[in-house]
Amino acid sequence: MRTVRQRYFSGIQPTGELHIGNYLGAIKSWIELQDEYEGIFGIVDYHAITEPYNPEDMPKMVMDAALDYLAAGLDPNKSILMIQSLVPEHTEMAWLLNTVTPVSWAQRVPTYKEKARQLDVSVNMGLLSYPVLMAADIVLYKSSIVPVGEDQLPHLELAREIVRAFNGRFGDTFLEPHAYLGRGARIMSLTEPTKKMSKSLGPQNYIALADKPDEIRRKISRAVTDIGPGGGPMSPGVRNLFELMSIFSSEETYSHFKRLYDERKIRYSDMKQKLADDLISALGPLRERRLALSLRPEYVRDLLIKGSRKAGEIAKQTLIEAKEKMGLAYF
Ligand code: TYM
Repeated sequence: MRTVRQRYFSGIQPTGELHIGNYLGAIKSWIELQDEYEGIFGIVDYHAITEPYNPEDMPKMVMDAALDYLAAGLDPNKSILMIQSLVPEHTEMAWLLNTVTPVSWAQRVPTYKEKARQLDVSVNMGLLSYPVLMAADIVLYKSSIVPVGEDQLPHLELAREIVRAFNGRFGDTFLEPHAYLGRGARIMSLTEPTKKMSKSLGPQNYIALADKPDEIRRKISRAVTDIGPGGGPMSPGVRNLFELMSIFSSEETYSHFKRLYDERKIRYSDMKQKLADDLISALGPLRERRLALSLRPEYVRDLLIKGSRKAGEIAKQTLIEAKEKMGLAYF
């Protein structure tokens, strides 16, 4: 008997190169869950336009994100790849959810507060309503889990509150989504290790999935660590390198350097060299697949169009159901 796989949605903003933080926080879990769940993976361009961006760059950034998804190992036969703006049900559902979301809930989201402080242009409605659109992405596919990095937890919490508000008012319609955190759900910046690895801190703070071996080596060799011989509580930079080593290196390698650290004999240059080697071997095949796929843009475009159509069919059902519950079904 064929078992029906549960569905979920997760997504990434097309704002530039994907880095190992995005990979570990999201894409790696997506791949690990591919057999158990039907994943719908969105390139969430409507989220990306809530901050200043260059319209000319958008098509390339969307394509780059798709290449990264596929090169990392998303199987288009098991998962659905889609572009958010090609499925208008997302914005329509967001509008419905906006009407059950108090403004004060959206205003207290930490990422909103932080961005509102950083941006020199005035804050737009899209930025405030950003997590409502994210909730719409999630509920349209009746997701019970959502694999994300730790920074998205406040958004997931708000999505749950929105679901409760909607269900409470109009009757049970959506599932309450729970964050699925994999290993490496919070990878820190290489240059400012008290902050999370992020595109906005510049290319030196992250390892991009598409980085060449010499770039990986250079970036890791410049990662912030300590001057001392180790031992005692780890500084954020050292902890981050050990975290990466625990994921990308063998157990023996990890234990070897951990022992040296505990015995106060570690030389960070040796540790970095080994970590860089292991990152290069882990990301090498991915980079090659990406290169090969970039020569087949029509294939990738086709997948995105078909995936968006398929996602739209599912989304439409949920939207109809929500509108019926809200008394918006007339004829
Ligand atoms: P975005 O585009 O900022 O990041 C995409 C995914 O990468 C994770 N991530 C990290 N994980 C570990 N360490 C890091 N340093 C790191 N940096 C980023 C993020 O947690 C995220 O999982 N709002 C979302 C996109 C979104 C979405 C959704 C996600 C829109 N709708 C619905 C899930 C479900 C965002 O901006 O992610």
